[in-house]
Amino acid sequence: MKIALVGYGNMGQELEKLALERNDEIVSVSFRKMTDKLDIAGVKKAEVALDFTSPEVVLKNMQAILPLGTKMVIGTTGWYDKLPAVKKMVAKYKAGLIYAKNFSVGANIFFKTVYFASKLFDKYGGYDVYGFEIHHKGKKDSPSGTAKKIAEIILSSTKEKKQLQAEKLDRKIRSDELHFASIRGGFNPGHHEVIFDSLADKIELSHSAHSRRGFAQGAFLAADFIKNNRGLFAFEDLFERGVI
Ligand SMILES: NC(=O)c1ccc[n+]([C@@H]2O[C@H](COP(=O)([O-])OP(=O)(O)OC[C@H]3O[C@@H](n4cnc5c(N)ncnc54)[C@H](OP(=O)(O)O)[C@@H]3O)[C@@H](O)[C@H]2O)c1
Repeated sequence: MKIALVGYGNMGQELEKLALERNDEIVSVSFRKMTDKLDIAGVKKAEVALDFTSPEVVLKNMQAILPLGTKMVIGTTGWYDKLPAVKKMVAKYKAGLIYAKNFSVGANIFFKTVYFASKLFDKYGGYDVYGFEIHHKGKKDSPSGTAKKIAEIILSSTKEKKQLQAEKLDRKIRSDELHFASIRGGFNPGHHEVIFDSLADKIELSHSAHSRRGFAQGAFLAADFIKNNRGLFAFEDLFERGVI
């Protein structure tokens, strides 16, 4: 497959390693430094462009790349309020785009585990639920896309929790608030933990990425899929379709 790397930070370089192992051809690399321009001519030659940049630039990249006919895998997080506009853009250009808050297959199975556990604890009653995430000191958005995804899952599967509270609290937490804290520091590629706590016991579910390899592997599963498909897809659609 002919691929374009859009963003050449931690994830861009991990994708490059895996592309070489898979014998994919990297026809373009954009933003080796953030002051560089998008390599339109190079991206046009690619079947799939993989964007792991930053929320400030990802929408501009979509606007420039989708009209070219190059399919897109979007790993960049922190832009999801623009999803309706992206949906229109994909339809307008009859383009193909797949995105994920977390491309790790392990993390996606963790999401299903949290959903299942959350439903059961809610049904049984007596358990409070909260969580936290840890990421490296270079991460720009907070809470992580993955934390927001986990919060959505818990809010949709419990009766009491109605809203995410990701800020520090100088008051008692309300029972309808789900507290999910973010910690930034060091080199951690991503740790997410959910705790169900009762007077009797505590259950901790966590997902820890050992490296960025799992994200890159999932991004290539997504690239293999979107190469031959048009439309807007979320990575979890690949589970529903039996691709994963
Ligand atoms: N979905 C997933 O599975 C997953 C997994 C990991 C990370 N991510 C997300 O992917 C994104 C990239 O993560 P990363 O760890 O690779 O970040 P990173 O190391 O900071 O790399 C980001 C890349 O984009 C460039 N860039 C940043 N801001 C830019 C701007 N305004 N204009 C043009 N280029 C810009 C950077 O250039 P410089 O090096 O010059 O700054 C760098 O090449 C983040 O949004 C992160 O949350 C998603």
